[in-house]
Amino acid sequence: MAKYQRLMDDVQQQIEAGIWPPGTKLPSLRQQVAQQGLSLMTVLHAYELLESQGWIVSRPQSGYYVAPRALAVKPLSVAISEKVDINDFVFDVLQATRDPSIVPFGSAFPDPALFPQRQLMRSLANVSHQLTASDALHNLPPGNATLRQLLAQRYARQGIMLSPDEIVITSGALEALNLSLQSLTEPGDYVVIEQPSFYGALQAIERLKLKALAIPSDPTHGIDLVQLEETLQRWPVKACWLMTTLQNPLGVTLTPERKQQLVELLAQHQVPMIEDDVYSELWNGTTPPLPAKAWDRQGNVLHCGSFSKSLVAGFRVGWVAAGKHAQRIQRLQLMSTLSTSAPMQLALADFLATRRYDVHLKRLRQILAKRQQMARQSLLKVLPARSTVTEASGGYFLWVTLPETINTIVLYQQALAAGISIAPGQLFATGDQFNHCFRLNTAWPWDTRAEAAMETLGRIMAEMAQS
Ligand SMILES: Cc1ncc(COP(=O)(O)O)c(C=O)c1O
Repeated sequence: MAKYQRLMDDVQQQIEAGIWPPGTKLPSLRQQVAQQGLSLMTVLHAYELLESQGWIVSRPQSGYYVAPRALAVKPLSVAISEKVDINDFVFDVLQATRDPSIVPFGSAFPDPALFPQRQLMRSLANVSHQLTASDALHNLPPGNATLRQLLAQRYARQGIMLSPDEIVITSGALEALNLSLQSLTEPGDYVVIEQPSFYGALQAIERLKLKALAIPSDPTHGIDLVQLEETLQRWPVKACWLMTTLQNPLGVTLTPERKQQLVELLAQHQVPMIEDDVYSELWNGTTPPLPAKAWDRQGNVLHCGSFSKSLVAGFRVGWVAAGKHAQRIQRLQLMSTLSTSAPMQLALADFLATRRYDVHLKRLRQILAKRQQMARQSLLKVLPARSTVTEASGGYFLWVTLPETINTIVLYQQALAAGISIAPGQLFATGDQFNHCFRLNTAWPWDTRAEAAMETLGRIMAEMAQS
């Protein structure tokens, strides 16, 4: 038996025997080196493996501790990633979707022709006549007061009472999400995400040098709450980054009961939740979904929203309803991007002051639902046997699962050579669990070009399924 394995066995047996109860500090690496006569590398390797198996946890600048409830560890299908490495691939895929000659099935953006461009430009023109030199100062973090007030009124209409002072305006939801995560964590901390999840979460975790605990999510129910609870019991989780409505890429929306359970579970473990809620205005059905924030009684949910998916992508305006965390987020914003562009904030405040946004949203939802249905029908005709496709309740993504023999990175490359992009499953995971899946954007007009592209995609998939 290798030396590191012997040390692992010893430590496991000592934990099981109660010599080191949950939460106690283990002998340091140097103490083990001196006591066992092993090299530092061997001890470190054993401790890292024990950590990845859930027996122990490391705390930066403090040492290794027995994990809470480490006894009788059973393997979880929670994916633990000490190091997330996703950026290069995301850049390549995003680059491909920017070329207008490529059919944008892999795009993350909605068709901009669906947005009220002329009205927005009128708002921009209105405010530009009144802009003064000091407007840049008045719209520094937390952002334009009128815009924050209008957002607080939208929350109030959903029954969510929060003060405009709890809201920070940001450069898109991406900044809101990143600053929220940064405000809650230190490098080396554990963060819960979903599997599969939005690649922006994986990129942020990589950039902030955090460790990911990825809880399985499925297209029918969303995140597995049982596995989440076990993970919260076992690991010192500092924050969660989750989507509870129209999750990207699965399209799943948690039921109100499950949203409530989720919020209560996290409150019980005092783990704050960053709620990534950029698609919720694109619901399809009879009742608008409430965010998990609606059940938050302890100010534990940082709710991140955006206009990028529902009104205008190019203005880059989003926000976070951060409650008690708002001050820290403002400080982080002042130290990084300084503030969201003042004219854009003012133009949105002008636009939102009337009912135009709600009128636009109603029309947008209808068109997106119709396009999604057409794309799904067309896709179903060309999918290889044993494939499945989600039935989303809104938004503009479908998640396709192909037979496991088809690698969607190869499919992506072959489709791209034929002038079609897709978003391969690997973009949304820390491992290779979704290498036979892809996300399809359905927001674009379903015309002859799209139909022809779907047929080509079907031909490539059929060839791959046969080989
Ligand atoms: C799930 C999710 N969250 C956040 C964002 C970023 O939103 P914004 O464009 O407002 O920064 C995106 C954009 O693709 C997204 O899909």
